[in-house]
Amino acid sequence: MPSQLKLTELISEEALSVKVREIGRALSDKYKGKEVVAICVLKGSFMFYADLIREINADVVSEFFGVSSYQNSSRSSGEVRLTLDLHSPIEDKHVLLVEDIVDTGLTMNYLQKTLAARKPKSLTTCALLLKPSCLKVECHVDHIGFEIPDEFVVGYGLDYQGYFRNIPYIAQVEGLI
Ligand code: PRP
Repeated sequence: MPSQLKLTELISEEALSVKVREIGRALSDKYKGKEVVAICVLKGSFMFYADLIREINADVVSEFFGVSSYQNSSRSSGEVRLTLDLHSPIEDKHVLLVEDIVDTGLTMNYLQKTLAARKPKSLTTCALLLKPSCLKVECHVDHIGFEIPDEFVVGYGLDYQGYFRNIPYIAQVEGLI
């Protein structure tokens, strides 16, 4: 039961908000006077995405891309599954990919390859969290919010077995086997 797990705050709401504004400013400079297709990678990045796009001062078009590799486990299956495709083509568009976390890097790697094959004008990647010690594949991320240790984290969109996405800060989960 999720209520039996102990959560310890790792990144506060205030720290998240400061970082989101900082990344938003950098993206506003980058896309000034341009149109950008901002892609929310479901489900985990929905909260970060919603906050981030409100900080981008440019013409933003929202798109949603569904991928899953953890399927209710705390370990990556190693196989990325597409669960929802984009609504419109991104060829010749400036594209911003918004992820919540890069852990093994398999999902980010898959997303970059999949989107690059659709020939956008530019592709910028952004992830709120990165676990450098867990990377299994090389993947470059343009904007990273926080580097965190190899701990299972939830909140601000990230889940454990579907729970805790609504917690407004990032927390470490104690007591997982
Ligand atoms: C999580 C997270 C990233 C991915 C990162 O998604 O949202 O997309 O894993 O892990 P990786 O770097 O090891 O590939 P998950 O499969 O849990 O789906 P969800 O976002 O719907 O919770």
